[in-house]
Parts: sequence; C-alpha cells; structure tokens
Amino acid sequence: MTWREYHESTKHSVESLRRAPHTLDWANMPDSFRHYEGVRVLDLPAGPPLPEIPALDVLRGVSGATPAGDGPTFLSQLLFYSAAISASKRVPSTGYRYALRVNPSSGNLHPTEFHFLTRGLKEWPDGLYHYRPSSHMVEQRALGGLEMRLAASSAQIVFVLTSIAWREAWKYHDRAYRYCLHDMGHAWQALALAARAIGCDSFAVGHFPDDEVAQFCHLHEDEWPMLIVELRGRSIPVRERDTCETVWYGGYANQLSRERTAYTLIDRIHDATKLSEGAHRGISSAEPAPTGSGEIKLPPPASSMRAFGEVARMRRSALDFVGGMQSMSLAQLSAILVAATRPFSADFASAHFIQLYLYAHRVNGLQSGVYRLWPSAELEEIKIGDQRVAAAGLSLGQELAGNACVALSMIGDLARAVHAHGDRGYRYVHFEAGAIGHRLYLAAEALGLGATGIGAFYDEEVHRYLNLAPERLQVVYHFAIGYPVPDPRLEA
Ligand SMILES: Cc1cc2nc3c(=O)[nH]c(=O)nc-3n(C[C@H](O)[C@H](O)[C@H](O)COP(=O)(O)O)c2cc1C
Repeated sequence: MTWREYHESTKHSVESLRRAPHTLDWANMPDSFRHYEGVRVLDLPAGPPLPEIPALDVLRGVSGATPAGDGPTFLSQLLFYSAAISASKRVPSTGYRYALRVNPSSGNLHPTEFHFLTRGLKEWPDGLYHYRPSSHMVEQRALGGLEMRLAASSAQIVFVLTSIAWREAWKYHDRAYRYCLHDMGHAWQALALAARAIGCDSFAVGHFPDDEVAQFCHLHEDEWPMLIVELRGRSIPVRERDTCETVWYGGYANQLSRERTAYTLIDRIHDATKLSEGAHRGISSAEPAPTGSGEIKLPPPASSMRAFGEVARMRRSALDFVGGMQSMSLAQLSAILVAATRPFSADFASAHFIQLYLYAHRVNGLQSGVYRLWPSAELEEIKIGDQRVAAAGLSLGQELAGNACVALSMIGDLARAVHAHGDRGYRYVHFEAGAIGHRLYLAAEALGLGATGIGAFYDEEVHRYLNLAPERLQVVYHFAIGYPVPDPRLEA
C-alpha cells in the first residue's frame, strides 16, 4: 500500500456514500478515555493560573510567562489549557451527556492520547506519565530518569502523542486514518500554543522509528505513537534530575469496546508510513513551497486582547453559522490568515505543504469569490461570484460551509511532501493541516467569531472546482469561519 492507494480508496463521492453503511453500533462504541490501570494516579492541582497573554499575541509568536512555582502546578496549567475537558453537551431528546475538550476531534471521538516524560521538575518525580483528561490527573507508568534516545536530553518535558485509530474507525471506517492525523495536528498545536503562552519553546518531531517509541512507552497495541513534542524553557520550575534506577509499572490498558473491528486499509497505510531504525539518520529537507502573488494585499490584522487561557477553553466547533447579512471585516480575516500560516516548529516543517483556498461569502471589502492565499499575504482571485452553494455542496452538503463568512479548502502538496519524506510525508501534510486548523479556531474565537473543522468533502469535486492537478495536489481538510448559531446542547 502507498499513500496514494489509501487516499484514492478513501475519497468521498456520491457513489461511495451510497455504498457506505449508515448505521453505528452504539453498544460497541469505543470508550474515549484510556486508562492505564493498576498504577499510581497523581492529582494535578485544580484551578491552575490562567495565561493572561492575549491569544493573538501567542499566535503571532510572543511568549507569555507562568506564575507556577512547582512542577505539579506547571503541568496542571499546561494540560488544562491544551488537553483537558472544557465543557459538556447534553442531547435534549435523549438526555445523553458528553464531554468536550480543549483540543477538538472529528466526531468528538478523541483518538489522541497524551503521554509525557519529565526530567528535573520541581516537586515532581522524574518518570513517564499518561494524562487522564476524565479527572485531570496523571498515571505514573514509570519512575526514574528515563533517557529516550530520540528526544534531546536537554528537554525537561517530552510528550509522546499517540493515536487510537479504532476510536475514529468505529464511525468513519477507512477514512478515519486521515482524521486521526488531523486530530494529531490539532493536539500538537493545542500543546505548543499553551506551552508558549506559559513561556516554553516546543519542537515537534515526526521523524522517529515508530516501533522503538511504542516499546519505549510500553504502549498497548491499539495505540500508535505519531508525534514527539519536546518542551524546554526558563519558565519550567526545575531542580536537579533524579539519578535513581528506572522502575517500570506500565499498567494495564483498559479495553475500549467489546470488540475491535479490523480496518485493514488503516493498518496498511499506518505500516506504509512507519519508519524503522534508519530514522536515526535524520530527516531530509523538502523543496520550498512555490511562491506567487495576488491582486489583493491583506490589510493590517485586527487586534484583540482576549486572554489566551480564556480563548483556549472557550473554543468550540460551531454547529452552524447565522448566514444572512452579518459580515466579518477584511482586517479580521487578515488576522486569522496571518496567524494560521506562521511557521511551525517541527522537524518536518522546514517547508509548508498546505496552501489555503478561500470561498469568501461575507467579508467586508472582499468581493464574493474564490481566492488563493500566497505566503506574501496576498490573495489571488480565482473566480468571482456567489460561492455559498458551491462551498456547502463541496463539503458534502453541510450548510455551515455556505452560512459561514468564509470557508476554506486546505490543499496539500503531497507530491512534494512524499518526494522529500516518502510515504511518511502523508502524515506530515495532515499534521500541518490540523495545526493550521487549530490556529484558525483560536484566532476566530479571539476575534469573537466561531469556526468548525470539516473533514468530510467530495475530494474530486473540489479538485475540479478549483482546477487542481490531483497527481500533485489534493484537498486534505476544509474549514468554515463565521458567526455561530447558539448550540442548545452546550451546558457549560
Ligand atoms: C478533523 C476534524 C474534522 C471535523 N469534521 C467535521 C465535519 O465534517 N462537520 C462538522 O460539523 N464538524 C466537524 N468537526 C468538528 C467536530 O465535530 C468537533 O470538533 C467535535 O464535535 C468536538 O467539539 P468541539 O470542537 O466544540 O470541542 C471536525 C473536527 C475535526 C477536528
């Protein structure tokens, strides 16, 4: 299996949707909370300090500071603003209640797990931990000075983000691997931005030998390591590192559902994108993204003083947008686009692989139409005219893409990514798309707007509509931004 075979087989079309089963086996729905049982569970202090720095400053690359004076408070703050439960929803017709998290997830199924190792944090034992969002606690899976050959030993905290594909596959079948990768990109940015807001630098490593990392973390076989994120910085409260021997507890992973249905396409694409021992030789660099220009120069970005902590925890996916006459300004759009496309700190991110196409519906000062965004912060006119029906239609008929002020197609330069990184590049393109998506969410929220990630679209129809050459470019993610309608399910 190659990335292209997987991608082609998981494209949506009218035909593929007609063939797909529409029923969900609710009795076998995977638990969205993983626990490693039988190990010590450490509490994280409640009510960690709110990062006050404006969210738009963090998105522009400015670092905040933390008043946390010890390791537990620091970790609590970091996770509360990146991965914790943030609200709940209740379905009025059934009374069914479920949790939302700071990081979004396709179908709210949350395939991503946060593991981390710590070295020399004040009042916190060195070891390997797994985060329990259900209670904002951590499971201590190993104790002592662990040395991970793959991560720079100067990093005081190293996260290993993993994915449990079955959680997504339960609902989205073979296409679910794409969503796991998007979700990973969101989780990475949620973590990286929270870290920056409290004064840490982060660096993500996508190029590592998968099996070695899985063994190092003693992961259950249904959990796959996808990204390593190193954190370092003067704001981390430190002490001397522990020199004691490592003691492993591991713990027993809970069973997520009665049975696990096999999705061989997902297993095969995951295998195709894995790296082995050779990964230690380092990652090659990709050709730079093409440059271009457009007729419309984005104006200076709109500003907002809303605190990062508030924005991160209030971020929600809009159920729909109000449509009608309410427009956003071009300065707001400028702020959102500039934030979303700033450079990323990752080994696979020396070159951008994603280009944004916009379907402008209600942006003051911008004629309705389709535009391509260039790194020079210029919009190139692709076609002029009302795009509301087209944008909704391309997003599988989801009306929110037409009721938004602006909808987006993220176009991945898969040919360039795969040329540099082999099939592994398939992951990197989707991580970047998810990471851009996370910045779109936060920038929109900071400016009083709402956003929704859209993983469901008619792939080939998008290529035709935008006149793309699919042997090189593929649509990988959609987004919509506008004024959200109130969500009657939201409780807190
Ligand atoms: C990768 C991805 C794909 C998504 N696709 C859709 C979609 O096609 N349609 C939609 O209405 N929402 C979509 N969402 C939004 C999720 O349903 C939402 O994130 C989830 O229900 C959790 O809600 P929250 O974002 O408010 O925390 C997507 C989210 C992500 C991260």
